[in-house]
Amino acid sequence: MPYKEDAATAQLLRRHEKLIAPVQTLSELPLAVTGAHGPYLECADGREILDFISGACTMNLGYDPILPGHIGQFPFPYATGSVQLEYAQRLIALYPYGQAMLSYGISGSEGTDAAIKYARAYTGRRRIISFAGDYHGKSYGAMTLTSVFKGGSDYIGPMLPECRLLPFCGEDAQAEQVSAELSEIEAQGGEIAAVIFEAVQGDSGFLPLHRGFLEGLYELSRRMGFLMVSDESQLAFWRTGSFFSVENYPKVQADLIVMGKFLGGGIPLSAVIGRPEIMKSLRPLDHDFTFAGNAEACARGLKAFGITKTLQAHGRIAEIAKALEDFYAGLKRRHPQAVARLTGLGTARGLWLRSQDGREDDQTACFKVIYECFVRGLYTQRLGSSFLRLEPEYTLTNEQLQQAFGIIEGAIAALERGEIDDACLKWMRR
Ligand SMILES: Cc1ncc(COP(=O)(O)O)c(C=O)c1O
Repeated sequence: MPYKEDAATAQLLRRHEKLIAPVQTLSELPLAVTGAHGPYLECADGREILDFISGACTMNLGYDPILPGHIGQFPFPYATGSVQLEYAQRLIALYPYGQAMLSYGISGSEGTDAAIKYARAYTGRRRIISFAGDYHGKSYGAMTLTSVFKGGSDYIGPMLPECRLLPFCGEDAQAEQVSAELSEIEAQGGEIAAVIFEAVQGDSGFLPLHRGFLEGLYELSRRMGFLMVSDESQLAFWRTGSFFSVENYPKVQADLIVMGKFLGGGIPLSAVIGRPEIMKSLRPLDHDFTFAGNAEACARGLKAFGITKTLQAHGRIAEIAKALEDFYAGLKRRHPQAVARLTGLGTARGLWLRSQDGREDDQTACFKVIYECFVRGLYTQRLGSSFLRLEPEYTLTNEQLQQAFGIIEGAIAALERGEIDDACLKWMRR
């Protein structure tokens, strides 16, 4: 089904190219949006397309405005206010490992930078470890620890010193790899300030860390005195079943947790939550930003948090998770050739697609399917190389879920029949 880019879309895309620097061109699809409502993006070409990635997990409740009663109650940046305290108290209550404090920020990247500073200040050590395929953000510190969705950093270096990326131990890592990597970390354990990890790697395709590896790492951290930092920017708020994704590993405790994205209910806000003695290690003025913890974001976040908590309590998030699993089971039965496997947990899922000749590393097959979904009225993305991102809003109705599943299956069937024209590959950017 060829997509005919209409004049209004073409004009907006041209203006974008002229006005916005290339670094800020993120979409692989010819998408120009003029508004949004519910789970739908209103496109310049007059279509409404269903967003199946929750606005990159910033809009878990869709696009209808979440208006807290008290926006603007306390907009002054150099003091705290009641809404900030109220939200902090609710979030701290969910920190699973005892007493905690919190500091607010603006973005997930800046939250990662905060975690680096806390870890260095608290331990007096410098080295920070993360894993290949992790995404922790694009400020200098965070970008140094990131290896996915990143061009080269060669021309903008030097990056933050004393940061090391180690190979990723995923669910199917072999025992030898796990023990070799733990030994490597043990060998430098005395120099490590923190290991920053995603319990479930988001942007590489929702890949959970190997359980034994994370438990072994935690045991080493207690013995050798480095901090465990769980980056929950994307996957907090019950995305993987539990409130924080690291809670899927009950034998592991995170000293610091980084939050972002949905935290501000659709506008920028981030936070680091951790044990009080660690949170007291940074002095005033060593990590402050004008809009950090601003009242409007806290008020919206608090309201969004309350709605999400109710949906969770009523089992709606679990129902959506189950619907995704059922969809996958049927899809795998009907399209065994194209559908390789389902990754992730809960409502953060990756659909690994194969090419027509059975290749699992063929990125064009996955791109063609997301392009065809876009043409048929659904927005999703490629994760890693060949994963289709399934991360729906918690407010989708059953009818909207079925609409989405129908579009995805239709696009996969079109791929199998060889109907998706190679011409769409001109939009593919990596
Ligand atoms: C796990 C994770 N950490 C950090 C970030 C960076 O957040 P931000 O883009 O708000 O700086 C992201 C963003 O995608 C993320 O998914």
